[in-house]
Amino acid sequence: MSGIVAYTGSSEAAEILIEGLSRLEYRGYDSVGIAVLGPSGKIVRKRCSDKSRRLRDLLQDGVPPGNTAIGHTRWATHGRPSNENAHPHTSCDGKIAVVHNGIIENYRDLKEDLIEKGHKFTSETDTEVIAHLMEDMLKKTSDLREALALTKKKLVGSYAIALISADHPGEIVAAIKNSPLIIGISDEGNFIVSDLPAILPYTKKVIFLEDGDTAHLTPDKLKIYEESGSKIERKIETISWSPLLAEKQGYKHFMLKEIFEQQRAVQETLMGRLQVEKGQVVFENFKPDPEKIKNIKRIVLIGCGTAYHACLVGKFLIEDFIKIPCEADIASEFRYRKPLINKETFVIAISQSGETADTLAALREAAALGAYTGAICNVIDSSLAREADEIIYTHAGPEISIASTKVFTSQLTALYLLMLRLGNITGSIKPEEAIKISEELIRLPLKIKQILDSQQDRIEEISKKHFKQKNFLFLGRNINYPIALEGALKLKETSYIHAEGSPAGELKHGPIALVDSELPVVIISTEGCVYDKVASTIEEVLTREGRVILLATQGDERVLQFTEDIIWIPPTLELFTPLLNVVPLQLLSYHIARLLGCDIDQPRNLTKAVTVE
Ligand code: F6R
Repeated sequence: MSGIVAYTGSSEAAEILIEGLSRLEYRGYDSVGIAVLGPSGKIVRKRCSDKSRRLRDLLQDGVPPGNTAIGHTRWATHGRPSNENAHPHTSCDGKIAVVHNGIIENYRDLKEDLIEKGHKFTSETDTEVIAHLMEDMLKKTSDLREALALTKKKLVGSYAIALISADHPGEIVAAIKNSPLIIGISDEGNFIVSDLPAILPYTKKVIFLEDGDTAHLTPDKLKIYEESGSKIERKIETISWSPLLAEKQGYKHFMLKEIFEQQRAVQETLMGRLQVEKGQVVFENFKPDPEKIKNIKRIVLIGCGTAYHACLVGKFLIEDFIKIPCEADIASEFRYRKPLINKETFVIAISQSGETADTLAALREAAALGAYTGAICNVIDSSLAREADEIIYTHAGPEISIASTKVFTSQLTALYLLMLRLGNITGSIKPEEAIKISEELIRLPLKIKQILDSQQDRIEEISKKHFKQKNFLFLGRNINYPIALEGALKLKETSYIHAEGSPAGELKHGPIALVDSELPVVIISTEGCVYDKVASTIEEVLTREGRVILLATQGDERVLQFTEDIIWIPPTLELFTPLLNVVPLQLLSYHIARLLGCDIDQPRNLTKAVTVE
């Protein structure tokens, strides 16, 4: 996902932008650029499409002086990654510079019209039309924000735009539609960014722009206008995230840091919500009318990638404990398959970013069909969080590594809480059972720590043994089948090794053909209702000389006969085994990717939030 950082104030803007943009690198990008409005009254641009070069190299032949600037990390959608296509883009006279996230769907038509009028284009991007449109609009009005409002009327698509003009020193204007922007307010100036980590070192005072808003910033003033054009006051919020949370703090990679942060992330997601002694859950935002919950006939969980795997676990929880039919669906499938949804369906979207295009579209489709909607999200005030009827936040803090780890375990934690809440309301979970579940739920953070402390050396050894293999198979059954899928996805993403996840019972229906004396087969065989069935699967793999790696319950000596590659998991209630089992699989992927020398935090071709279809 592309990132935007813009600043106007009393400090040197280029330095601030480079620092801010470096904090957005985690989102994945293929080029970077800044435009600075200098004291000479000219806009100076620096752009680079060589990702391997550090951002600071942009400035190796001198920092452009100036106190107003816009910057961008680009993840190519329209036009290949190149210096010419890197943002900021400028108008013909070079007096307007613009950065943009999203897609201008009608840019071809606009470009044709503009070319007919004599505009000269220098890139293949959709974004450049905005700079040329602004050039025309500024002939109609000298007010920069008004010109942007007129330009917006021509645009179809989704966008977060920030722009500067050589004729308007100290000013930045911005607009959003279906793509977030946040204003940061400080004594040294004002900021516009697409993502909070970019401003955390400078300020914690922020305003989340709302869909349709335009904003006008100067070093000491800011004005916001809603879609209709009327001026509006938006609430200033204070962010509690510490800038340290967005730094590596001595870990070699963000992914490793985030794996080790899971104890805290799960704890914070539980904090203030779980009343252990009563077996009850109270959410800050999700306080539905009990009658509404009692009328729900079906629950549908939707998400993409890792979030979809959380949905699959959620399906087991809801059907087993709430006794309401529940489906888990991939958002990109749901949105096009004419789902049967009505007002008795509760559709819950799960997403780290809250900006995933398919998940948002699926939620909107569900809402249009009359569903009661909810979202489990990590990013506060994200589009999904704003659009859903109900919102449950995962309190994992910013997740910087592209491969999701701590947010996944936090999503599972939120699902356990949701299950308990629904159980409290419907009475499907008896108070004594709810207390038993709560007592174990509160112990999970410590058990995560136990796994990481006691198993990390063993996991590293197992990684060393197998990292050169070209294929891996992950098997799990029942509530741990989604964890086999997640283990495989994590390995693919971080190490580029082909990995397949499969329900263990499906092995003999096809995947068993892959098993030979080379293939590492990771089998989740912690204690639970399918323990004996999984033991048969282990035998089937061993008979074909597969190289078995087991996840087993601490103290279960029966598995010692199968292999020496065993990762031990502390005993827990079966419903919680997915949350504990996924932790060593994340670490296994991490170590294999590290041994292979992969770009762990920013794997090739991936981006942190897939905001385009
Ligand atoms: C996997 C991963 C992706 C995301 C997916 C959904 O590690 O990060 O599979 O889970 O793109 O993203 P969100 O959760 O932001 O909707």
